Amino acid sequence: MSRFVCLPGDGIGPEVMAEAARVLDVLGYEHEEFLFGGAAIDAVGDALPEETLVAAREADAVLLGAVGGPKWKPGAAEKGLLDLRAELAVYANLRPAGHLLIVRELIGGLYFGWRGTRDDGTVFDTCEYTPNQVARVAKRAFEIARTRQRKLLSVDKANVMETGRLWRRVVTELGHEYPDVELKHGLVDSVAMWLVMNPDEFDVLVTENTFGDILSDVAAGVFGGLGLAASASLGDGTLGVYEPVHGSAPDIAGTGSANPTAMLRSLAMALEHSLGVHDEARALEAAVDAALASAPTPDVGGTATTREFGDAVLSSLRVTV
Ligand code: NAD
Ligand code: IPM
Ligand code: MN
Repeated sequence: MSRFVCLPGDGIGPEVMAEAARVLDVLGYEHEEFLFGGAAIDAVGDALPEETLVAAREADAVLLGAVGGPKWKPGAAEKGLLDLRAELAVYANLRPAGHLLIVRELIGGLYFGWRGTRDDGTVFDTCEYTPNQVARVAKRAFEIARTRQRKLLSVDKANVMETGRLWRRVVTELGHEYPDVELKHGLVDSVAMWLVMNPDEFDVLVTENTFGDILSDVAAGVFGGLGLAASASLGDGTLGVYEPVHGSAPDIAGTGSANPTAMLRSLAMALEHSLGVHDEARALEAAVDAALASAPTPDVGGTATTREFGDAVLSSLRVTV
């Protein structure tokens, strides 16, 4: 029996997670919640408590709401998320937006580099990549591109950064193993512009951690907003972390108006990638699409509450499963 570990976190995290939990009940999956993020700092003084990490390791899939907010020291809750991803070695973060798929390197680069403060008050963050860190995520992107339009755009800043030149060299070399995939390279600044001007040109895009963080919010904005954008973070095994691209949305937390689509689509990605139950994944996606049409939340032009959206999802899901 597959088991989900749910980490609701902070802000709208618990609000959208509640709808995912109802779907898990209807589908008949075991699920349990654990402390994470700011909520865990408040309860036990640690954003990623040992008990949560142990449970996550033993799960078939981890569902995550969102962490952080103005209540906590900047970066404290977010550190729990970065540590969870690193501990579970989920290096490939799949972020679909519309027809586009961004594959973001998730546990290297600037967010994990050496950082500190010097006596003169200078602070620094460093960006490092090993060839293997680049190769393993690029390999995943090539494999995915093979199942789609066989086109891959690799995004870097090779005109300025050493890590960008390494990125381009490793991806180019790996490309020789995938002669059936058309590989192109782009510089992140112009790709950001093209993503807004001409998003239809893209199919699969692979990039490093920070660029992927930014470009995935851009892509979410182009394709309907953060309320819709899901993600799957995968490593070499079947265990994955599934979470919306959005954060804890302190500006709307507590109003009951958060769009649970990103969370529910992330759950669909878990059904697909960690559990391999493709029919259930398709059924959930279809139920979410139906709810977007019949009970849209304010961010997508409607008036439904989070719960009403969830009700709409459950009623069409109950018809199909
Ligand atoms: P955010 O993604 O939380 O919100 C950006 C905007 O999008 C807000 O106006 C918000 O109301 C809206 N929005 C986001 N999700 C929505 C949804 N499901 N339905 C409707 N509207 C939605 O970004 P932010 O405000 O810059 O960050 C807030 C906090 O979240 C910060 O502490 C940040 O570090 C954290 N954060 C966490 C994660 C994560 O846990 N994975 C991701 C991003 C940001
Ligand atoms: C995301 C978030 C996180 C990231 C933060 C909160 C650590 O922005 O998942 O996109 O940068 O990866
Ligand atoms: Mn982000």
